Amino acid sequence: MIVLGVAGGIAAYKACELLRLFTESGYDVRVVPTPSALRFVGAPTWAALSGHPVHTDVWSDVHEVPHVRLGQSADLVVVAPATADLLARAATGRADDLLAATLLTARCPVLYAPAMHTEMWEHPATQANVATLRSRGAVVLDPAAGRLTGADSGPGRLPEPAEIFAAARTVLDRATRGLDHGSRAFSLAGGLALDLAGRHVVVSAGGTREPLDPVRFLGNRSSGRQGYAVARAALARGAEVTLVAANVELPDPAGAKVVRVRTAAEMRDAVREAAATADAVVMVAAVADFRPATTSATKIKKTGSDPEPIALVRNPDILAELAHDRPRPGQVVVGFAAETDDVLANGRAKLAAKGADLLVVNEVGEGRGFGTADNAATLLGADGSAVDVPLGSKERLADAIWDAVAARLPR
Ligand code: CTP
Repeated sequence: MIVLGVAGGIAAYKACELLRLFTESGYDVRVVPTPSALRFVGAPTWAALSGHPVHTDVWSDVHEVPHVRLGQSADLVVVAPATADLLARAATGRADDLLAATLLTARCPVLYAPAMHTEMWEHPATQANVATLRSRGAVVLDPAAGRLTGADSGPGRLPEPAEIFAAARTVLDRATRGLDHGSRAFSLAGGLALDLAGRHVVVSAGGTREPLDPVRFLGNRSSGRQGYAVARAALARGAEVTLVAANVELPDPAGAKVVRVRTAAEMRDAVREAAATADAVVMVAAVADFRPATTSATKIKKTGSDPEPIALVRNPDILAELAHDRPRPGQVVVGFAAETDDVLANGRAKLAAKGADLLVVNEVGEGRGFGTADNAATLLGADGSAVDVPLGSKERLADAIWDAVAARLPR
């Protein structure tokens, strides 16, 4: 059972969409709005969409002890939107309404999706509350930047409901797998064991495009899905994530800082800038090894009958440069390799040539790899290790990568 907590902000209307995403996927959801949330969206809406009665205080159905039962029996609590006030109450352990009491009694993972004006989000009080909640194992997504209520814009927007839903599924999946393995994936403070909390990680995704002229480019088929799954998995484990995305047409993962680039040169600048403060860099992007030696400012025209050959020059190898320079001591550098044959031998050779700590060797072809939902891979370590990740979702592979990275991070 999932508890959807809704605090009193205008973004409460977006939580209706989030609720539908849960219920349409078969989840049983109890909605717990705060009293002020009901000023934005009324109880009948929540009751009709969830199929359950809705209360805001601890005085209804007292014989069922709801302030304890809901938290105890939840598999996940999602608070969306989480306002500055709700975060403050949760951080200080208040129990002044049903949602706050549920957060105190929850023994499951808790995911907060904050939404508020930029000033409130950036205020040291809110930041301290967020840090407190994160230190206890809660996943607090950074809000998206963009248009806020009224004429204002900046960081503070509720991430898109579909992305909060994806984050919630990742958190649930990880918690469930922790229990499958007999270990407690979350702590008594109602939080996950977030092994990447306090870490900054950089993930590159998608495929670069190297322009020939204003309308043509040399590119590749990378969809960005594996890189986005790697970013989401890091967010669900508590990391601050910079996602450098090359030509990806996917929605921003909730909580990630997304930097959009087009070419290998732009990707190099963005990755290097973010890597200066990163604990780990995972280069999932398909970066063009070469680019046209010249880019025409105007559209190239057909001349005569024979096509002109295209002269190419080498692009910098971002992964090899990072692995060599190590902009931050102890940084873990991870590369990807797509191979069609001699997968392991080619992978070992590539790992050594790049100087990375880990190489995710991906067998492409046979319905695996580019553009597909599933992926299988072997994680090769510079220490000689090899971990097989059987064919499964890109999310599973992403989590296996972070397991390997977390084990290599300095304490
Ligand atoms: N990479 C990079 N910069 C480049 C090229 C690749 O950082 N200019 C990174 C990719 O993000 C990926 C890994 O290096 O992590 C892929 O290695 P690469 O040698 O480029 O793979 P292929 O192009 O498949 O190599 P080859 O054709 O030699 O097999």
